[in-house]
Amino acid sequence: MSQVKICGGKPLGGSITISGAKNASLPILTACLLIKGVTQLFNVPDIGDIRTMLRILKQIGVKITDGEEPGSLWIDATEINCLANLADAEKIRGSQTLLSTMLTRCGEVRLPPLGGCNIGSRQMDLHINSLKRLGADLEMEQGWIHMKTSGLKGSTIYLDYSSVGATENAILAACLAEGNTIIENAAQEPEIVDLINFLNKAGAKIFGLGSKTIRVVGVKALKPNHYHRIMPDRIEAGSFMIATVMTRGDLIINHMSVADNSSLIYKLKEIGASIDIIGQDSVHVRMKKRPNSFQIKTMPYPGFPTDLQSPMMALACISEGVSVIVENVFENRFQVARELTKMGAKIVTTEKVATVFGSSSLTPATVTSPDLRGGMALILAALSIPDTSVIEAYEKVDRGYANFEKKLVSLGVNITKQEELT
Ligand code: EPZ
Repeated sequence: MSQVKICGGKPLGGSITISGAKNASLPILTACLLIKGVTQLFNVPDIGDIRTMLRILKQIGVKITDGEEPGSLWIDATEINCLANLADAEKIRGSQTLLSTMLTRCGEVRLPPLGGCNIGSRQMDLHINSLKRLGADLEMEQGWIHMKTSGLKGSTIYLDYSSVGATENAILAACLAEGNTIIENAAQEPEIVDLINFLNKAGAKIFGLGSKTIRVVGVKALKPNHYHRIMPDRIEAGSFMIATVMTRGDLIINHMSVADNSSLIYKLKEIGASIDIIGQDSVHVRMKKRPNSFQIKTMPYPGFPTDLQSPMMALACISEGVSVIVENVFENRFQVARELTKMGAKIVTTEKVATVFGSSSLTPATVTSPDLRGGMALILAALSIPDTSVIEAYEKVDRGYANFEKKLVSLGVNITKQEELT
């Protein structure tokens, strides 16, 4: 267990560089299992979930060495152990794409029930149905998913819901299947586009990037010896933009994807922030007054991202007036409201709607991160309070934000991290 102490109340100022995207790195790392050779990745973020994924890949027999550039890795999946136990996969939701990649590589896979943030039921039915459409058989064994195939064959897949993970598993399974696959009602998240770009560089034939209909022409093999730079993390970039607005700061954010954050940029301008776009990968965010209240509804991309819902709840707590937040993606993603209330916030929640009565300022408290993005919301709230707050279970934040406390220190924030003796 770890915690951070933050003495806030100071405007964020200066400039920051965004790290690689957690939710692009995870599927791309598992995609390396489809390549019998060496692949080089750049801009892989140094975060808890990635460290867990690298440990799982090594347990499967993948050879992984650090490259010269920070964040670069050499991944050699020439030889793997198809009988490796995937028990550690239960630690992160990002292991979900081991289902398609191990099934394709080995003809069989056993995956434990997956963990990750406790923000909803997080079913796997769409993943399983997609792989069944491509010729895989399923047996459930004490909660583990056991799938087998004598060879995947292309087909048409219709996703009842545009699930990010199920879209990724369908694409990965279709890459080396015999024949063509069409995936209808696919998710359009930028992380899926990054995965497709990675696969096409390795010789896959995938069309319809970023659209609701993805077409895959199965190929015999993917080629090794290519490299890929992971896209910037749009949720980290969004978190820094919200932090700047909450502290009435003046921040330049570099190495981000402006296009991937368009829904947030529009919303923050509506709230009263000035946001100047500098080229394709930098923004200058300034906020001089108390934020206006707002309404957001989370939706699959290009709708407002559910991963920024908790940080926006923190912003709503100090906005002028009443804000309304509708969470349409996960059924249990308002847990941080209880912790924000300890800081003086006034929030009324039902399963899908949070109504936030903004106050001019919050009060310091000791709070506990309920999940990754909820933990970020508590950090943002503490940054706005001119006194010392403590955020416990900080390891949940470290899972998804690279060196976040060091980045805050570089922006003049008084934050100290303590590893609690367990
Ligand atoms: C990915 O999760 C991300 N995680 C999540 O980020 C993100 O919030 C989510 O996509 C939505 O954008 C990774 O990429 C590792 P979904 P995923 O399948 O794939 C239901 C973060 O904070 N569903 O699109 O699990 C599901 O229960 C994390 O970085 C089914 O019903 O998201 C949920 O309600 C949190 N059956 C909804 O779909 C299924 O088979 C969205 O889930 C699959 C999903």
